[in-house]
Amino acid sequence: MSVVVTGATGHLGRLIVESLLRRDVPAAQIVALGRDVGRLTDLADRGVRVRAADYHDPDSLRDAFTDAEKLMFVSGSEVGQRVPQHRNVVAAARQAGVGLVAYTSITRADTSDMVLAGEHRTTEEDLRDSGLPLVLLRNSWYLENYTGQLATYLAHGIAGSAGDGRVSAATRADYAEAAAEVLTTEGHAGRVYELGGAAFTLTELAAEVSRQSGREVRYTDLPEPAYTELLVSAGVPEAYAAVLADADRGLARGELYAPVEDLEKLLGRRPTSLAEAIRAAL
Ligand SMILES: NC(=O)c1ccc[n+]([C@@H]2O[C@H](COP(=O)([O-])OP(=O)(O)OC[C@H]3O[C@@H](n4cnc5c(N)ncnc54)[C@H](OP(=O)(O)O)[C@@H]3O)[C@@H](O)[C@H]2O)c1
Repeated sequence: MSVVVTGATGHLGRLIVESLLRRDVPAAQIVALGRDVGRLTDLADRGVRVRAADYHDPDSLRDAFTDAEKLMFVSGSEVGQRVPQHRNVVAAARQAGVGLVAYTSITRADTSDMVLAGEHRTTEEDLRDSGLPLVLLRNSWYLENYTGQLATYLAHGIAGSAGDGRVSAATRADYAEAAAEVLTTEGHAGRVYELGGAAFTLTELAAEVSRQSGREVRYTDLPEPAYTELLVSAGVPEAYAAVLADADRGLARGELYAPVEDLEKLLGRRPTSLAEAIRAAL
């Protein structure tokens, strides 16, 4: 097996490479891609093959996918540019004739009306149209989206537009482990996995942070425009603030809810819980 992992300079891609190595996939059979291969030298030192690839650059993708049997396609992070970027990836994968593409999508990408889901939906359609054997890893939110903000929560409380919606957040490490399972075992082509951890509301998030920190942290629900303004006043660029507030609106409507079973089955255990993730982060 040779497996090419895109986005290996990012958090999730790197964790997937690490998970593959832990599963005894020979390092020489893993190809880690990044725009800046200088950030992959530690993996190269361990025998992983590293190649430069930019989603904007079809030639770089064609070269990077040479001899790829499986492609772990980690979605790009440049929101708004991903449809043409991802089309370059799909075209290169088709040209290379890869045997399986695993794509990190978003919860219910086919029906979700969250702005963030639009690019994923188009990429899922492009991948289906390519005819390549495909497995969709529709990841819900990362728990790190929340645990990364604990200092802010403790200082200012939690704000959002999520109402009583429940989010099935899981750690990146768990999503990476699930991806490695899909890449190293058979029977996943054609499957759509809706992946997420045990769901919670942002009020429950606040309660758990309060319980573990010993400080009272409240969740304040705001109308979407007010939450957007708050994010902008905290330094988030306006366009991205609108996307984040829209995601909270989607969360309120259950767009980021996934039953925990798909992730549990791939992991062979229950995913890391909110309480465990907060404990580790605190
Ligand atoms: N589920 C969630 O809560 C959530 C949250 C945020 C993002 N996401 C999605 O999940 C993906 C992985 O998450 P993550 O935490 O690993 O994100 P991340 O750390 O930001 O990593 C993104 C990866 O995509 C690469 N990339 C971006 N634009 C590229 C381009 N034009 N050509 C080649 N590579 C490009 C980045 O390369 P560089 O290192 O060169 O920038 C990086 O390796 C994200 O890209 C995004 O699609 C999900």
